Amino acid sequence: MSKIICICSQIDEDTLRQAIQAGADTLEAIQEETTANTGCLGCTRRILALIEDETNKAK
Ligand code: FES
Repeated sequence: MSKIICICSQIDEDTLRQAIQAGADTLEAIQEETTANTGCLGCTRRILALIEDETNKAK
């Protein structure tokens, strides 16, 4: 498992990157797909940074 990004839901970085690559490129989509970012929201900035990183890579 890679680094945990969402502590509340125990979602790791690889899981989030895969979800973003599969099209979940908004916070709402990530919440639905992975259940990350549905607790304290302390991971919001980390997830937004991953979304930005993955969508830049895809360009
Ligand atoms: S760390 Fe992700 S919702 Fe709390």
